[in-house]
Amino acid sequence: MTLHPVPGTELFGNDPLGLRDPYAVYRRLRRDRPVLPVGMIFGTTWLVTRHDDVREALRNDALFSNRSNAKGIGLVMGRTIIEMDGAEHLRHRSLVTPSLAPRALRGDFPTLVADIAHELIDGFAERGRADLVAEFSFVYPLKVFARILGLPEQDWAEVHRWAIDLIGIARDPATGLAASRTLAAYLQPLLDERRAEPTADLISRLVHAEVAGCRLSDEEVVSFLRLLVVAGAETTYHLIGSALYGLLTHPEQLAEVAADPSLVPAVLAEALRWESPVQIVTRETAQAVTLSGVEVPAAESLTLAIGSANRDETRFEAPDRFDLHRAPSEHVAFGYGKHYCAGSRLAELEARVALEALLERLPDVRLEAGTECAVVGLAFRGPDRLPVRFHAKTLARASA
Ligand code: HEM
Repeated sequence: MTLHPVPGTELFGNDPLGLRDPYAVYRRLRRDRPVLPVGMIFGTTWLVTRHDDVREALRNDALFSNRSNAKGIGLVMGRTIIEMDGAEHLRHRSLVTPSLAPRALRGDFPTLVADIAHELIDGFAERGRADLVAEFSFVYPLKVFARILGLPEQDWAEVHRWAIDLIGIARDPATGLAASRTLAAYLQPLLDERRAEPTADLISRLVHAEVAGCRLSDEEVVSFLRLLVVAGAETTYHLIGSALYGLLTHPEQLAEVAADPSLVPAVLAEALRWESPVQIVTRETAQAVTLSGVEVPAAESLTLAIGSANRDETRFEAPDRFDLHRAPSEHVAFGYGKHYCAGSRLAELEARVALEALLERLPDVRLEAGTECAVVGLAFRGPDRLPVRFHAKTLARASA
């Protein structure tokens, strides 16, 4: 069979980072070409857009292998659970995931996170206006994560820079690979210290983790930390941003949540579905497979469009509408099956605390009139900025 892949640029244009609306394209593809070969810089990939197909590919790890990640993000991460299959994946996952459960994290985690949120709000509260992306959602998860890892505060900004360079590997391989090496050189002395003298932080937990006599090598810990720096900083940031964007552009729903903060988890579930922070994941076919009647040969790359699956009209009524009152959602924003996001509970807790703090402190927050902001991106997705105005409330808080 001769393949005639559609150029990716024909579908989405030349600026995937600034892309505002992939959903019109996805809607057409779901209807007419649900499994479509697309030509990208790195070769051909089959773009899968229907909810049922995406979920099936995520669920069936025997037919749809994660080794695809070894050729992409694995080049800068090193070998981690996102590129492993079967027994190897299970073994590594049971070593690393207990360290990510919120209760396993340092001290009184919700209080620690709330303190960081309130510190950031203190930085702009008196001004009566702020950009909630630049001054809050961008920095908050990184600060939380650096504290969980136990990184010195003066290093946070630089570590974030390396994380951004890592995920830019497709755009700029040399910078991505250099960041990967720099991050390893930065982390190694911290590993040595925690091995000799464990503390309560995540690095200590990882270097001392043991399941059935197995431990992680230094290289495995460093690779997992590279994955976490990206996963911890680049995803929750967009979730918080998109949840705020959804509320700020739907003032009636914002008023409802401000009056009843127990609705915050529903807002987050809807934001995850409506503007999924991780829009695509990849797989490789372990053998020839058929999806929506289309045969894909063995050893082909697949791009599973989570962002499209979560807007599939056969699953979600009026899928383009932001509606916090939807029934419990079948979204796949955290993936599905064996590779389901290992940090989902941490991310949800962090995002919930952030939204609660913002709603409490900025009760009349609204978008600044006459300014523009938009949700952008094709791979990771979130609002570019959120200029707001408010009258802040001062609170007497007991810190942890
Ligand atoms: C809103 C925030 C987040 C979203 C939307 C998200 C999304 C995802 C998705 C879609 C996957 C599945 C990848 C696949 O199947 O190929 C995944 C896996 C993963 N996530 Fe997250 N994530 C988030 C936050 C986090 C955080 C905060 C952490 C860690 C602190 C984390 C750690 C991981 C890890 C380690 C995996 C790999 C699991 C495996 O392969 O078994 N994530 N995430």
